[in-house]
Amino acid sequence: MCGIVGYIGKKDAYPILIKGLKRLEYRGYDSAGVALISKDQQLNVYKAKGKVSELEEFVAQKDISGNIGIAHTRWATHGEPCQANAHPHYSSTESLALIHNGIIENYAVLKEKLQAKGYTFRSSTDTEVLVQLIEYIKVTQDLDLLTAVQLALGEVIGAYAIAVLEKNNPNEIIAARKSSPLVVGIGEDEFFLASDATPIVEYTDKVVYLEDEEIAVIKRNEDLKVVDLNNVVMNPEISTVALNLGQLEKGGYPHFMLKEIFEQPDCIHDCMRGRINVEGTNVVLSAVIDYKEKLLKANRFIIVACGTSWHAALIGKHLIESFCRIPVEVEYASEFRYRDPVISEDDVVIAISQSGETADTLAAVELAKSKGAFIYGICNAIGSSIPRATHTGSYIHVGPEIGVASTKAFTGQVTVLTMLALTLAKEKNSISQEEFLNVVHELNQIPEKMKKILENNDKIAQLSKIFTYAHNFIYLGRGYSYPVALEGALKLKEISYIHAEGYPAAEMKHGPIALIDAEMPVVVVATQNGMYEKLISNIQEIKARKGKVIAIVTEGDEVVKNIADYCIELPETIECLDPLVATVPLQLLAYHIAVCKGMDVDQPRNLAKSVTVE
Ligand code: F6R
Repeated sequence: MCGIVGYIGKKDAYPILIKGLKRLEYRGYDSAGVALISKDQQLNVYKAKGKVSELEEFVAQKDISGNIGIAHTRWATHGEPCQANAHPHYSSTESLALIHNGIIENYAVLKEKLQAKGYTFRSSTDTEVLVQLIEYIKVTQDLDLLTAVQLALGEVIGAYAIAVLEKNNPNEIIAARKSSPLVVGIGEDEFFLASDATPIVEYTDKVVYLEDEEIAVIKRNEDLKVVDLNNVVMNPEISTVALNLGQLEKGGYPHFMLKEIFEQPDCIHDCMRGRINVEGTNVVLSAVIDYKEKLLKANRFIIVACGTSWHAALIGKHLIESFCRIPVEVEYASEFRYRDPVISEDDVVIAISQSGETADTLAAVELAKSKGAFIYGICNAIGSSIPRATHTGSYIHVGPEIGVASTKAFTGQVTVLTMLALTLAKEKNSISQEEFLNVVHELNQIPEKMKKILENNDKIAQLSKIFTYAHNFIYLGRGYSYPVALEGALKLKEISYIHAEGYPAAEMKHGPIALIDAEMPVVVVATQNGMYEKLISNIQEIKARKGKVIAIVTEGDEVVKNIADYCIELPETIECLDPLVATVPLQLLAYHIAVCKGMDVDQPRNLAKSVTVE
C-alpha cells in the first residue's frame, strides 16, 4: 500500500523517480506525486490524482530539474484520493516535503496539538500531520532535520516508511521505517530509496533493508549511515538482490496478469528446483529437515494468511492433515491477531504471504512469536518483513508478481505446501513409500500439465464473451477443489467487479441454491477425483433449476460433458494436486471476462498489492 521512491546522486532525479513509481504502482494508484530540489534550490512539489501517467502529464512544462528527489504513489487510507491528499506533503513554510507509507494512528491528537499552536492543514491526511510536527520541532527547538525526525517519530503511534527532503539541504534525504518496508540501494556516488527493490535493481544490486525504527541518513558523497530513534549508530547488513529486469516487464503480453498466468509452468519448475531430485523420486524442503524436531513434536499447526494466500492455506491444511496426521487450523490473520488466540510453545504457526509485507499477517506472526510458538514463513518477496520475522521458512521462488490479482504466487504457495507436507510426512513415517513416490512423481509433471491447460487460452477467451452480461457467479468445488472455487470467485470479483461466491458444492442446497435461475452462471470444479459422483448430482441440481454450468473436468470426461453447458478440460492428475491444475483455467476465465468488460486488469479499482495497513 503506497509506494515510495527516492534518489540522490549525479543524474537527473525525475526520470528515475517516475520509472520507480511505475514499478511500484501495483502498491496503489489513487494519486501520485514527486518532490525535487531544483538546480536553483527550489523545493518543487507536483502531484496529481490518478495514476503515474497523469502525474507525468501534469508536470509537462514544469521545472523538473534536480538530482535529489522523492516520489510517491498512493493507496488512500485517510482522506479521499485527490490532489490535495496526494503525497509529498509540504510543511507549513514549504521548507520540508515528506512522503509516507503507513498509518499514523494518533494523528488526530497530534493535529489538535499543532492546530492549537496555529498550524493549518491543506489536506485531510495523517501524513501532513507528521511533516508539520517535524517542522514544528525543528523550528521551535532549532534542530537539524535528523534530530527533528527522531523526536517526531518518538511521538508517533502507528506504521510508517517515510522520506523527507529539506529545501535548504539539497545533499540529504532522511528516511525511516516502522512496520512498513523501506529499502536503500547503494550505487556509485548515488543512493536510491524504495518500498521494495524493484525500482532499484537496474541501477545497483547492493541494498540495505531497513529494520523497524531505523533511520537512514542518506548524504551525497558520504557513506550510508543508519541510526535508531535515539541516535545509536546501527551496522546495516548490505544484501545483494538478484532480480532479473525481464521479470519486471510485460514481455509482449497485454497485461502482467496474463504474463504471470502463462509463467506458471516455469515458476512451478523453479519452485521445485533443488527440492525434488532429478530422478523425481524424492523431495526435501531443507527448512523442514533443519527444524524437523520442532515441527514433528508440534501439537498442531496454525496457518495464518489473508486473501488468496488464505485459500492456499486451506489446501495446505488438507495436505498436512492427510499426509502428516497433524491437526491444522487455518486463520484469517486479521481475526487471529485480535481475538487473544490460545497459542503455546508446542504450536507451529505457518505464515503465508506473497508480498511478505501484509500488515495483519506480520502482526499475527509477532503475536504468535511472543507466545513462544515456532514460526515458519512461506513467502515470495525475498528479504521482506515476514520472512525476516519468522524462525525459518521456504520461499516460493516464482519471481516478482506485479498484477494486483495473485496468480502464480497461489500455485507457488500450494507447491511449497505440498513439498512441506511430503517432507514432513516422510520424516514422520506417516505416508507409505508408494504414495510418497506417486505424489512426488505427479508433482513433477505439473509444469507440463499446466502448459497443456494454457493451450486452451483461446477457447476460454471465446467462452468468456458469453458471460460478460452476468452480474453474479457461483463457484463450487469439494475437498481439495473447494478452496479452488473460493480462489476462482475471488479472481473474478476483484478484476471484473462481478459479484461471485465460492461454496463447497454440497452446501449449495443449504441456501445458495435459491439464487439459481437461467441467468446464473455456475462454475463447478468436477474432476474425476474425490467426490466426482456427488458433484454430478450437484450439477444435476443446478441444471434442474436452469442454471448455466461451466464445468472444469478431467480430459475425456463424457458424463459431465453431457449435462454441463460448457466444459473446460484438464489433464488428469491425482486428487491432492487438482488445485494446481484446476486453478489455471479459472484464472484465465476471470482474466478474459475482465478484458471483455474493458476493466483495468492489472490495477483494479480500490485494490493494492501489498496491504501494509490493517
Ligand atoms: C488476491 C490477492 C490478495 C492477497 C492478499 C494477501 O488476488 O492478491 O487477496 O492474496 O492481500 O497478500 P499477501 O499474500 O501478499 O500477504
